Amino acid sequence: MRAAVVRAFGRPPEYGEFPDPEPGTDETVVRVSAAAVQAITLSRAAGAHYSSDTKPPFVAGIDGVGTTPDGRRVYFHSPRAPYGGLAERAPVAAARSAPIPAAIDDVTAAAVAVPAMSCWLPLTRVAPVGPDTGVLVNGATGGSGRIAVQLAKYLGARTVVATGRDAGRLEALRSLGADELVPLGADPAPLRATVRGLARRHRIRVVLDYLWGASAEAILAALGGPDAPSGPERVWFVHIGGVAGPTITLPGALLRSSGVTVVGSGLGSAPFPEFLGGLAPFFEAFVAGHFRQGTEVRPLAEVTAHWGRTGEDRRLVFRPA
Ligand SMILES: NC(=O)c1ccc[n+]([C@@H]2O[C@H](COP(=O)([O-])OP(=O)(O)OC[C@H]3O[C@@H](n4cnc5c(N)ncnc54)[C@H](OP(=O)(O)O)[C@@H]3O)[C@@H](O)[C@H]2O)c1
Repeated sequence: MRAAVVRAFGRPPEYGEFPDPEPGTDETVVRVSAAAVQAITLSRAAGAHYSSDTKPPFVAGIDGVGTTPDGRRVYFHSPRAPYGGLAERAPVAAARSAPIPAAIDDVTAAAVAVPAMSCWLPLTRVAPVGPDTGVLVNGATGGSGRIAVQLAKYLGARTVVATGRDAGRLEALRSLGADELVPLGADPAPLRATVRGLARRHRIRVVLDYLWGASAEAILAALGGPDAPSGPERVWFVHIGGVAGPTITLPGALLRSSGVTVVGSGLGSAPFPEFLGGLAPFFEAFVAGHFRQGTEVRPLAEVTAHWGRTGEDRRLVFRPA
């Protein structure tokens, strides 16, 4: 079959031949119709993601959309290594696929699934949104952050605060439901002061953090302190992505002196079916018109030329044929 093959970590995948997959026990071979490039797609291909589980050569792509041999349209995640989503076919465990409603096309489903899973569980299970509370999305200008802003609003957050680096993309979030926009600059001090004021005014009780690094430190400092809410009113800081850096400095006193609770959400933080389970209600809401997601479609044969592109307003999606 034809696939995007990673031949060395740190080099873009090449479009070429890869052995056809055979189904293993409890697996089906999905004929892939669309697979998006997410941040995790790139970091796994670079061997840099904590979930990376194989060495080159392997097929790039963590997920995709396609058809099973018995004709079901499915979204699938984590094909068996060394296979991946950016290929004509992928061997997928039955428990790692979910049906897609007819009203969502393959390309859109491929584009929104990972962003949706990044925030559905945090906002419905880890730190459910209350009707009178605010949600802050740190790194809202990325593809996942944009979906998170829309989901927080859809789930009934009173106020959604969005932070981001790119001024144009940040401003565009107003039309997706963001009520307050906070630009991220090189100096974290103004961010800390701004978030402190917004947190009190809008009762921010949930932070979805896609960045980590200096902005996460500043937001945690703003939310903590002796006058911060505690008990049932506590603030849940949910770490989801590390675009701005792998580590932060977190003063222990901040955790001891406030109700701020730091948790993570990602592959490994909950059983995988729980992440996948969020897709059905998300897709239902998508079909009802509550979300917007742009896409750019390219043939898989062009994968090398477009490798490395993420974070754009329109999600890049490859089609194998
Ligand atoms: N745990 C999970 O379940 C899960 C799921 C999905 C994604 N993620 C992770 O979440 C992160 C974001 O994902 P994504 O899909 O939104 O990625 P994305 O679409 O590639 O967007 C990344 C955004 O990060 C911003 N950025 C890059 N460097 C930055 C910096 N130093 N400071 C501030 N902003 C910076 C850019 O925003 P500007 O345009 O403003 O420059 C870019 O648009 C990634 O680490 C990804 O792996 C985790």
